[in-house]
Amino acid sequence: MCGIVAYFGKKAAQPILLEGLKRLEYRGYDSAGVALLKDNQFEIYKTSGRIANLEEILPEVDQQTTIGIGHTRWATHGEPNTINAHPHVDYTGKIVLVHNGIIENYGTLKKWLIKEGCQFKSDTDTEVLANLIGYFYARSQNRNGDAAPKGCDRFEWAVQQALNEIYGTYGLAILCLDCPGVMIGAKKGSPLMLGIGKNEYVFASDASAIIEHTSQAIYLSDNEMVCVSNEGFTTKTITNKTVEKELKEIEISLDQIELEGFDHYMQKEIAEQPEALRTCLNGRIDVKNGRVILGGIQNMLRDLTRTKRVILTACGTAWHAGIVGEFLFEQLARIPCEVEYASEFRYRNPIVEEGTLVIAISQSGETADTLAAIEQAKERGATVLGVVNVVGSTIARTTDAGVYLRIGPEIGVASTKAFTAQVAVLTMLAIELGRRRHLSADAAQGLLKELMGIPNKIEKILDQNDAIKAIAQANMNKENWLFLGRGFNYPVALEGALKLKEISYIHAEGLPAAEMKHGPIALITDYMPAVFIATKCSQYEKIIGNIQEVRARGGRTIVIATEGDEDIKPHADHLITVPDTMEELQPLLTVVPLQMLAYHAAVLRGHDVDKPRNLAKSVTVE
Ligand code: G6P
Repeated sequence: MCGIVAYFGKKAAQPILLEGLKRLEYRGYDSAGVALLKDNQFEIYKTSGRIANLEEILPEVDQQTTIGIGHTRWATHGEPNTINAHPHVDYTGKIVLVHNGIIENYGTLKKWLIKEGCQFKSDTDTEVLANLIGYFYARSQNRNGDAAPKGCDRFEWAVQQALNEIYGTYGLAILCLDCPGVMIGAKKGSPLMLGIGKNEYVFASDASAIIEHTSQAIYLSDNEMVCVSNEGFTTKTITNKTVEKELKEIEISLDQIELEGFDHYMQKEIAEQPEALRTCLNGRIDVKNGRVILGGIQNMLRDLTRTKRVILTACGTAWHAGIVGEFLFEQLARIPCEVEYASEFRYRNPIVEEGTLVIAISQSGETADTLAAIEQAKERGATVLGVVNVVGSTIARTTDAGVYLRIGPEIGVASTKAFTAQVAVLTMLAIELGRRRHLSADAAQGLLKELMGIPNKIEKILDQNDAIKAIAQANMNKENWLFLGRGFNYPVALEGALKLKEISYIHAEGLPAAEMKHGPIALITDYMPAVFIATKCSQYEKIIGNIQEVRARGGRTIVIATEGDEDIKPHADHLITVPDTMEELQPLLTVVPLQMLAYHAAVLRGHDVDKPRNLAKSVTVE
């Protein structure tokens, strides 16, 4: 949420900032802005709306302007108008900054700063931070009366004073007019990395805005800051202790973040699922011996075998993957398991006994609630594993160990390929833990062989694109939909409903099909679309009964069934088939047509599926 990018080097800053902001636009698109350091002044351009709006108001590129900071906003404090857009300048006009995160104690600080004579222009929490830095810088003294150092050290000192006064989260890039040869970045709770090129530096919220310039980067940890100058860069904590940072290779490539002929990232990411899953599974499965090799946790497996209880925690789509995980852990590893919304778990007083394993699932590795749930679990002594996509992300670094999805960047706000990969990783984990407990080699071999075949089966579903689009077309004007499934397909029903509502703005509910009769059946009216996942499984007959209940009341059924199932035809107004597979692996297939259905419905309704209304990816606020 909110993307920041900053350039310090020898090239013209403006195009680099603009390109970087476009790459980060998935993180928020309420307003955007840049500040350029030109002729010892800040030139600031900002506007409400998308980066395209910002592009229209930017001046001609000046090759001599080689330092600047940029921001794309997902509004929290203050409406998304131009005044509230970043960058924000302090009341002295000397400090300018961009911020991703929330300053929780901004109200108290703002009152105090106003009393001290600072003026405010916006409603944002960020301006409070700009003014706080400006205040300490101008005053050259902290609250204890300690004097500031001289020269540009004063800038660094003022940033430290301010950051030590705030509660909340931040990824920051900051400039000071008196120190045109210095740029400061700092991080707590929100992501920030520094790309290090030849005589140039790029700060950004994620690697997509850096990769065009360099593949070398450092990832800041919480409470750390970096000062960049023509002499190089220094890293320290906000309490002024020097820290050594390891230079890391960025693992994504440029083509992974391009549309490459697709209309939308979501469309590309749905289509990428076979290949993404192959990469996710590659080298991790030993079918012959019925074993799974997960490098990141291999040396912990002996301890993990003694796990008495698993808690899966996540948000959004990752939470749905977690429910599939719950069923897999129960079924295959016979370990008691439960799934917690991270946002609830973090504020409860959860019972975490010895032997509890917490698994945090997150595509971005930055979701604030998931991160807080991890802290909560760690404080209570649990071992915490991460199932994360973004390499080097905060969750990847905060957990004791983990398994990466290895599916490349996911840019579409509505998560698709991350879901299938999360489920695949949880399946591998459940099988391996099962094998170390009671799951027979035969059973594991069967499951793993079938798992390896899933990517080819997804390809067969993708081939039905035109038919699925026609179904979306026939139903897109219906404003209420139900998604119903049982057993392993119940979480898929939840995910299908979430996909549809987040991008098409159609109201949709996902339910275990049998629960329908306890209330939601009252919603059924003529022609209300009800999407049933009715593949061949242990509850097949039961779900046919549920379909009949809906049809008897005039509902219209879109049925996801197993290829070759002739018996289901009379029950379906619209039929989509998926190849047959084992019950435990069905979510990996059945979710795909639901992603496609949502995608087409949203496009046909004229929505920007990659940037749905009010949403953003990488939710770094609570
Ligand atoms: C947001 C996104 C969802 C995602 C959820 C959790 O709500 O729009 O697509 O599932 O965050 O994100 P994470 O990065 O932790 O998986």
